[in-house]
Amino acid sequence: MFILNLAIKDFLDNFWQKKPTVIKQGMINFQDPIQPDEIAGLAMEEEIESRLVYRDKNQKWQAQQGPFTDFSRLDEDGATLLIQSVDHWHKASQEIVRQFRFLPNWRFDDLMISYSTPEGGVGPHIDNYDVFIIQGLGKRHWRVGDRDDKKEFAAHGALKHCEPFDAIIDVTLMPSDILYIPCGFPHEGYAIEPSISYSVGFRAPDRNDLLRSYTDYVIDNNKKPVRYRDGAMKLREKPGKIENNELKRLHQLMLEGFSPAEKLVPWLGELLSESNHELDILEPDPAHSRLEIMSDLNKGNQFIRLGGLRAVYFECAPECIYINGDEYSCKGFIELGDYLCNQDEVGSELIELFEDNEEALNLFVDLINSGYWYVV
Ligand code: SIN
Ligand code: CO
Repeated sequence: MFILNLAIKDFLDNFWQKKPTVIKQGMINFQDPIQPDEIAGLAMEEEIESRLVYRDKNQKWQAQQGPFTDFSRLDEDGATLLIQSVDHWHKASQEIVRQFRFLPNWRFDDLMISYSTPEGGVGPHIDNYDVFIIQGLGKRHWRVGDRDDKKEFAAHGALKHCEPFDAIIDVTLMPSDILYIPCGFPHEGYAIEPSISYSVGFRAPDRNDLLRSYTDYVIDNNKKPVRYRDGAMKLREKPGKIENNELKRLHQLMLEGFSPAEKLVPWLGELLSESNHELDILEPDPAHSRLEIMSDLNKGNQFIRLGGLRAVYFECAPECIYINGDEYSCKGFIELGDYLCNQDEVGSELIELFEDNEEALNLFVDLINSGYWYVV
């Protein structure tokens, strides 16, 4: 089993969201959890997002969306096949994601895996994600530039590039090396030999997206309208002027819609627990009974959280947890919420904690029958 070899506190203090860095031999005992033929197999699936990027014979960038049946491009140099959210579909790859649990669930986006033939890469670009790129099979040459406003353009309908940049990091990654790139830093990487890269991506929400989503939520939920009031209107000389006190009052009216921060619960919990990519949900049929589940737990079986499923709660309101965009009440048994959100696996300790709590067990049974946790 591989393990992350990173001085976490030092990394968080000095690099996280601040500057890119190379962690030589950042994974100990690393072995590729997936092989090139399995990567191609995932790219054949309808519900899995995949892309093939290459340069044609005129050196023009091309990008195609999957699913694919023809992989002949990968017999040539200069091609890359990329699969999004592999952690949702491929169990052995989830172990890579687990190594990064020192960062909060809600920041994690997905594990993207790419297979490149020599000289393959996606070109110079900027991501909206903080990303750890782990080198598996082969070697790959990476360049990373500084975070300044590089112009972006479409090199192809499905491929955004940025203008050339000077490198502040220029490195050849060997198997087990890690390159960390905070969002906003331009980068490009080209395989030196057949190569597999694992990108563990962390999303940073965009303010416009948050505002749009919150206002949609307020409108959809018919929150009581609060209207502007100005009962203290004074006689004025210039009816064309919007006075400073009026600007302030309108601003205040808007801010009150967002304040205090607790007002954002539950909308934000629902939003942040949603996955950006499809999940491989399989509801058990027939549904499991409580008795069956208790018996599994008693036998020492573990229940594992579905790959890519996000479970979170707020420090200020731990009696509700948010899973895959829905709110669940844990009133009277907040330890269960804490447990489900903070552990990847649930075992017999659950019985000791909640044996006498019917509501807690019912919630656990519901979640299992939704396909969110499954027995191994
Ligand atoms: C890749 O794996 O080919 C691209 C990763 C990246 O630059 O974000
Ligand atoms: Co990138």
